[in-house]
Amino acid sequence: MAAMTPAQLTGRVLAAYQGTPDPRLRELLTALIGHLHAFAVQTRLTQQEWLAGLEFLTATGRTCDDQRQEFILLSDVLGLSSLVDLVNAADGATESTVLGPFYVPGAPERRMGEQIGRPEDGSPALVRGQVTDLAGLPLDGATLDVWQASGNGLYDTQDPQQPPFNLRGIFRTGPDGRFEFRTVRPASYPVPADGPVGDLLRGSARHGWRAAHVHAIVSAPGYRPVTTHIFDAQNPYLDSDTVFGVKDSLIRRFRPTGPGDPGDVRYVAEMDFALARPGAAT
Ligand code: BEZ
Ligand code: FE
Repeated sequence: MAAMTPAQLTGRVLAAYQGTPDPRLRELLTALIGHLHAFAVQTRLTQQEWLAGLEFLTATGRTCDDQRQEFILLSDVLGLSSLVDLVNAADGATESTVLGPFYVPGAPERRMGEQIGRPEDGSPALVRGQVTDLAGLPLDGATLDVWQASGNGLYDTQDPQQPPFNLRGIFRTGPDGRFEFRTVRPASYPVPADGPVGDLLRGSARHGWRAAHVHAIVSAPGYRPVTTHIFDAQNPYLDSDTVFGVKDSLIRRFRPTGPGDPGDVRYVAEMDFALARPGAAT
């Protein structure tokens, strides 16, 4: 009798999952099995390599706790988080990018223009703009939930020296859709590299730096929220962001202030956001 071929085995496995009642789950499992099997065949994956892969995934799981999610970081450095963002983007809306592990819900709502950081966090900067729909009409009551790392490269949750909710805040637009907040010019920082993802980065000769950014989740009643960043145009890591989060449309100049600008900041960045209705084309 002829020996079983890889294609026959793959066919049997796929057939075994064809009874999956939920059609979407069936579709996902069929594609996942097909790609995993093709990967093993294409690379002629050895037993030893497969075991090393399983050990890596086991270590990734063991690194997770209620403060740290190493699997999300793994998805980020493999570019998968950014890819999932891309395939779900709404046409015409502000581009989204990774949420990252440092978002904390429940930030305080702040006065328009309020400073979210402390003097020791970095150079004071004003970020301002407008939230609109896809036709450019201002959105009243839109919220910007913003957060960023301090100049030492750490978020408040990583740094006992920072008070809770330092460099975080929620701003709500009025009828003109406009917002402004004071913060500090963002600094680059490395993603946590003391776990399996750090081993992966070192083993791939990749650096672990994120291009300097301010995070924002922009929402408005009746619109699809956008989770995104504002990147500093002068940052050296824009082309090699370790999590592939940079999109050209999200890069802004933090320009030095001049006549006519507020006197209490050193830089100004302008960033508008456009939100789509749910069900808009993706
Ligand atoms: C962040 O920007 O906060 C981040 C995103 C992905 C991985 C690590 C950090
Ligand atoms: Fe970040």
